[in-house]
Amino acid sequence: MGFTVAIDGPAAAGKGTIGRAVAERFGFAHLDTGLLYRAVGRRMLAGEPPIAAAQGLTPEDLAEPDALRTAVIAEAASKVAVIPEVRAALLDFQRAFARRSGGAVLDGRDIGTVICPEAEVKLFVTASAEVRAARRCKELQEAGYPTDYATVLADVRGRDARDADRATAPMLAAEDALVLDTSEMRVDEAVAAAFAAVRAKRPA
Ligand code: DC
Repeated sequence: MGFTVAIDGPAAAGKGTIGRAVAERFGFAHLDTGLLYRAVGRRMLAGEPPIAAAQGLTPEDLAEPDALRTAVIAEAASKVAVIPEVRAALLDFQRAFARRSGGAVLDGRDIGTVICPEAEVKLFVTASAEVRAARRCKELQEAGYPTDYATVLADVRGRDARDADRATAPMLAAEDALVLDTSEMRVDEAVAAAFAAVRAKRPA
């Protein structure tokens, strides 16, 4: 039986941390769907047209996720993500993952609205742009990428606007999503709220 936890929200709000914790706690598989768009973005930066890149994506493109987590690739991902044919090419894989037996957690922007509207649990994890930029800055610095707060904040705002304003599958909280604003929440509090939402829907 499938059981899907859909986690949407803007960059650096805590989706990944919460998604990984839920997957581990309940034994579900986890897919960070941003990596798919990042892999397409990286291929585009290497000169491939984005639609062909999305249609030709292979598991090797995702083999080293950390290499995809750069600011340049994030920007490219956000640009290819506005193209409807790119999104269409990535749809079946995500839907199949969502309904795999044993349960699945997917995090992204349109999981609860487009990829898996029937998800048993939907969370929309958000935080202020300032808090998210500060977190992202710290992560990038710790990973050894030189960075400054003002640039990261501008990137976060630019990406939010592009992700929220696009015509196809914009970033949006599903009507039945539980909204978690992590601006002033500790990680363990947000994770506990997510666990409670899963327990409430899961047959014991
Ligand atoms: O979550 P992330 O920062 O790795 O995502 C990178 C970009 O990919 C993001 O700016 C928008 C796009 N994206 C999307 O459009 N839909 C998703 N489900 C996941 C990511």
